[in-house]
Amino acid sequence: MIMNEVLEPTVKVHAEVFNDAYLPYLDDKTPLQIYYGGSSSGKSVFVVGQRTIWDLMNGGRNYLICRQVGRTIRNSVYNEILKVISSWGVGSLFNVNKSDMVITCSNGYQILFVGLDDVDKLKSITPARGVITDVIVEEATEAELASIKQLEKRLRGGSDAIQKRINLLFNPILQSHWIYKEYFNSINWTDKQTEYKSDELLILKTTYKDNRFLTTQDIFRLENEKDKYYHDVYTLGNWGILGSVIFKNWAVDDLSDVYDQFTNRKFGLDFGFASDPAALHCSHYDKMRKIIYAFDEFYETGLTNPELAALIKPIVGNEIVICDSAEPKSIKELRDNKINAVAAKKGKDSVTYGIQWLQQQTIILDKRCINARNELQTYKWKEGGDGKPVSPPRPIDKNNHWIDATRYAYEEEGKDKPKARSSQG
Ligand SMILES: Nc1ncnc2c1ncn2[C@@H]1O[C@H](COP(=O)(O)OP(=O)(O)OP(=O)(O)O)[C@@H](O)[C@H]1O
Ligand SMILES: [Mg+2]
Repeated sequence: MIMNEVLEPTVKVHAEVFNDAYLPYLDDKTPLQIYYGGSSSGKSVFVVGQRTIWDLMNGGRNYLICRQVGRTIRNSVYNEILKVISSWGVGSLFNVNKSDMVITCSNGYQILFVGLDDVDKLKSITPARGVITDVIVEEATEAELASIKQLEKRLRGGSDAIQKRINLLFNPILQSHWIYKEYFNSINWTDKQTEYKSDELLILKTTYKDNRFLTTQDIFRLENEKDKYYHDVYTLGNWGILGSVIFKNWAVDDLSDVYDQFTNRKFGLDFGFASDPAALHCSHYDKMRKIIYAFDEFYETGLTNPELAALIKPIVGNEIVICDSAEPKSIKELRDNKINAVAAKKGKDSVTYGIQWLQQQTIILDKRCINARNELQTYKWKEGGDGKPVSPPRPIDKNNHWIDATRYAYEEEGKDKPKARSSQG
């Protein structure tokens, strides 16, 4: 056991601040490192938070931390690092530039952040001293294989004297994902394994059981997950296999060149706060061809209504935003803050009708609508013991914030309910 050892860079860090499962990899220099598994397993705290700060204090390494969508960085990976600086009491060693999100250690080495959607910044970003030695892609299932290849190429440039690393972090949402095909297929990985190691590739699979810092409440929530898919993926960290997905009528495209042509705009909002995000749906509707073009989205937890209003105002302007009618007070607060918010009408069976209507459309998501994509990928019917949808079908009330917002946005379009139902047979 190493629990009582003291690891010693410029300051002393006790081994017990780490989860045991990760400690062996603190100085591992395998070029490609995959940390994946169930939710709350400690992946982000270790790889994004602790190891970066550890490496920076030891000197010689600069980090580039990426997520697919740049604007999600501040509230996730960036904050993760600030928390470690604070809990280790090493604030005096670091200069934190809040506006540019650059963290610099007193020895000159840096942590930089970039969204993979920010191609220009990605090309130009360089540390003040030396070269980028480490790349972390947080929630890597959101990224494209091409982006990872680009990052690998970028790392390989420059000096070979330092061992460079790329780290991918994610939950194993779908076995059909490119990450599985690219890295797990060829080594015949099975869900029973927890580690793989070669000169080129390290894979570490962890679950909540590897994280001794969780509360009993966290553990209870994970262990009592009733849905098989969510239990497999988020509790056990196994590669996901979806049964009865609800929406298959969608695709991802780059809509950036056609934004200007989107005139028939629809906005819907689902409220959230602590664990659920507030989710904004933004799309253009091509009614003739029954195509919904989702050109943007907003998806954040922990916002007050005035904060939410300020953040969505640039997206929605003065247009009508149809909101979840369950929160009249929130709607009023948005209106007080210059958002043209109105309540959805909902009504009996509106969820089922809304889903049926949406199933008859084609949904094209812009590539930056990551959360919409995550939801559409995993929104599914409740299944009975036989693995078939229960009758009458009911959606699982999970991963449906953007989807609910979408139903509200299109409530008027889909109000011809009986017809929609009979055409489904
Ligand atoms: N070394 C640690 N010290 C203190 N707390 C920790 C540590 N590791 C994890 N935690 C706690 O456990 C929580 C979950 O950890 P973390 O966010 O790293 O999990 P994760 O594997 O990235 O989960 P997800 O797959 O959901 O992103 C953290 O928010 C933190 O409260
Ligand atoms: Mg994480």
